[in-house]
Amino acid sequence: MKLKLIVLLIYLFINSYSVYCSDSSTTKGFLIFKTKCFGCHSLGFDRKKEGTNLRHVGKRHSEKTLVAIIRSPHIFDSSKAMPPVTGMSDKEEKELLKYLSSLK
Ligand code: HEC
Repeated sequence: MKLKLIVLLIYLFINSYSVYCSDSSTTKGFLIFKTKCFGCHSLGFDRKKEGTNLRHVGKRHSEKTLVAIIRSPHIFDSSKAMPPVTGMSDKEEKELLKYLSSLK
């Protein structure tokens, strides 16, 4: 009985991890997401946050739109302003976009 529970917990852990981090080419982008975006946006079934759920954001926006939103969020929705994302190098921005585009 206890063993079943442990197996179930391990399964759930691995399963939710794969939602966040589907393959190693997007790991860096995920880490950037975690520090820069995760405070306001969720990805899966975690609690409701101020920003939208970005689980399928790669389906909703092209990379071009995503970069525009990150650089000047008010173009998307000026009523619930998302602050511009600062302190990201071009390389980090690319990694982040690669990760976001993979969220389909
Ligand atoms: C301080 C909070 C905050 C942070 C940090 C933040 N956002 Fe947002 N974001 C928002 C809010 C608020 C909106 C507007 C949501 C709405 O209209 O309901 C938004 C909107 C968006 C949208 C357009 C809405 C959608 O779901 O298509 C995208 C894309 C987005 N954010 C991506 C990001 C990314 C990527 C980062 C990190 C680099 C980030 N945000 C960081 C608060 C934040």
